[in-house]
Amino acid sequence: MFIGGYVSASGLGLSCPDWPLCPNGLLPDDEFFIEWVHRFIAATTGSLIIATTVGVWLNKRSDGKIKITSTLATVFVITQITLGALVIEAKLHAVLVAIHLGIGILLFAMTLLTAIFAFRMARQQVIAKV
Ligand code: HEM
Repeated sequence: MFIGGYVSASGLGLSCPDWPLCPNGLLPDDEFFIEWVHRFIAATTGSLIIATTVGVWLNKRSDGKIKITSTLATVFVITQITLGALVIEAKLHAVLVAIHLGIGILLFAMTLLTAIFAFRMARQQVIAKV
């Protein structure tokens, strides 16, 4: 979200005009470095969030709350990455950029709640052992 805010405020939104990769393929370039970093972090974050959700559903100790927040985080991150493509396609249409920011906030909230619930689960397990 921090890098996204920088991309937006510095007017670099269309510095990488292609999708899904920038003109240099997987490699960064001076011309679109900041936007490349934004996409690289989005891809890394997306993979970690999806892996967390798979882990939550495979863990027998997971309760309903963490299942809901992690699943919503996965839905929001996939929506957000798809929306990123639309933002580029629509040449930074204001409504789409505003929705991109809104989904980013929801995604942050769900990720934070998932982390809080995971720490609670770990603490309850330690207390149960004592
Ligand atoms: C985890 C995924 C992502 C998150 C959390 C995220 C978050 C953000 C945020 C918070 C902003 C600033 C919005 C504003 O200031 O109004 C932004 C801007 C932007 N994002 Fe993302 N983003 C993600 C993925 C992507 C992807 C995959 C693309 C694909 C191209 C993308 C393209 C853009 C562009 C072009 C802008 C600048 C819009 C402008 O110039 O006004 N984002 N992003």
